[in-house]
Amino acid sequence: MNRILLFALTLIFPFFGGAQFVNPLLIPDTISGTEFNLVLDESSVEFLSGDSTATYGINQDYLGPTLIMNAGDFVEMSVTNLLNDTTTMHWHGMHVAPEDDGGPHTAINPGETWEPDFTVIEEATTFWYHPHLHTKTANQVYYGAAGMIIIRDEHEAGLDLPRDYGVDDIPIIVQDKSFDEDNQLVFNIMADTMMVNGTLAPYLEVPAQRVRFRFLNASLQRVYNILLPPNTNPTMIGSDGGLLESPVGIPSVIMSPGERLEIIADFSGLQDSVMYMRSAGSELPFGMSGGPGGLDGPPGNNLDSNDFDFLELRIVAPTSNPAGPIPTTLNSLSIWDESEADVYRIKVFDTLDAGFPYYINGTPFDHHHVNDTVYLDDIEIWELRNETDIAHPFHIHDVQFYVLDVNGHEPPAPLAGRKDVVMLNVGDTIRFITKFEDFTDSIIPYMYHCHNLFHEDAGMMGQFVVLDPADTITGVDGKRIQQTDITLYPNPAADFLIMESPMEMVNAHDIAIINMVGQQMDVPVLQLSPQRVGVNVSKLRKGSYIVKLETEDEIRAQVIVVE
Ligand code: C2O
Ligand code: CU
Ligand code: CU
Repeated sequence: MNRILLFALTLIFPFFGGAQFVNPLLIPDTISGTEFNLVLDESSVEFLSGDSTATYGINQDYLGPTLIMNAGDFVEMSVTNLLNDTTTMHWHGMHVAPEDDGGPHTAINPGETWEPDFTVIEEATTFWYHPHLHTKTANQVYYGAAGMIIIRDEHEAGLDLPRDYGVDDIPIIVQDKSFDEDNQLVFNIMADTMMVNGTLAPYLEVPAQRVRFRFLNASLQRVYNILLPPNTNPTMIGSDGGLLESPVGIPSVIMSPGERLEIIADFSGLQDSVMYMRSAGSELPFGMSGGPGGLDGPPGNNLDSNDFDFLELRIVAPTSNPAGPIPTTLNSLSIWDESEADVYRIKVFDTLDAGFPYYINGTPFDHHHVNDTVYLDDIEIWELRNETDIAHPFHIHDVQFYVLDVNGHEPPAPLAGRKDVVMLNVGDTIRFITKFEDFTDSIIPYMYHCHNLFHEDAGMMGQFVVLDPADTITGVDGKRIQQTDITLYPNPAADFLIMESPMEMVNAHDIAIINMVGQQMDVPVLQLSPQRVGVNVSKLRKGSYIVKLETEDEIRAQVIVVE
């Protein structure tokens, strides 16, 4: 093939691999109101000509409907699992009680229906939902179990922003997939075919006006470097947890798995043109999956380290009510001051050997081990350090956080809003501040983990319980009460409880187990190592107890449950 022909071909087939954009972009149906009934089932879709592809879908054949909720509403959810596999359903980004959060502890067995309900304590933003069963998350999401959540509130409703769903407010759920010769999905570490909202080779007719795109990276591990046509003045207005304080003109934005971005592009005057949404993979920083040096996975498919278009935009006539210029002030964020922090935690991403699997603080996820105890209404700073050779998107449940700094520098504009996922490149240290409000549960923990779903399923996850300090004992003899540092697990415990501190000595003779009416229990306490003590709780009745560690100058106390 001569060079001229090759050049002509790339003009006709801008999509790497030569596919044309022939399928209208699917816009997921919506459910709004206060009752959300979801049915997760096996299904199939004719993605490619010939055999149809086996999928999972939620109320539809692939992916799920967009749930539109109003801040302040009390909503009732119902999730029916018709898969031949256990699942859970997690409301990613939402601030709900642990029992309603849908983490790995809240299994929905085949044939069962789970019915959480909660008040929507949120700002207007874009969240999503997906299964979260440990070791099964990547697989179930890959087959199609995921959907978008849009939160609306009065403040956002008062701003002149595009919000006509499917018209000038468009969900863009990006995923990469691989298919075998029989058109079945292949569970690839890095897949080779782009899909948006479950549509291969998609095009979208967009009105010649300001259009808002709600991006969700629902890929397992591919990172995108989102690039909108530069002549549309792409402007980021929102991140994971809500609107930014002010809009930021942005040539490209990196979006790691789990993250959401809201971007407005202005197509005014561009009617009849054809443009592309692109990921500039070649410009991803070294170490991110999908860019140069994304070490995870066989490099060399069409998408890896390449720039590729994933959506064709066909500009059509404007609507009768286009949104005006983007307001210069979108939100006001009240970020806690570092001096207000009660607790400082350090989470190091590391590996026991070299490479996969990766862990947090050297500890693989253990369903029965609560890694951290947080106290209600505490403001905490978490310092995340990536000491591995690949980037990791860190996610935490229950809260939205504010990034304090990235490698000691102020966060760049896309990270300056409310976040629940933050990407750490190789060698990065990122600190965030957050407050743990409203919900406690001594039994069901919340999760924090890498949102690279392969890493998460392989154990790059930890869990924390939030306890009410009023439930723990208070000052005795003026001694300071400190409620952190010592890890107790498993909690609940059935026979043996381990107490350990990575930082200091724990002496068996300083430990007492006290019941809820204040009586000290007579139980064997063993010194296992200088920093580890074991308590035999097998003779205790079921119920809650206080574990008290009392030394000369302080008392620490924590509630445990014996089951
Ligand atoms: Cu998107 Cu713990 O999850
Ligand atoms: Cu989550
Ligand atoms: Cu990771």
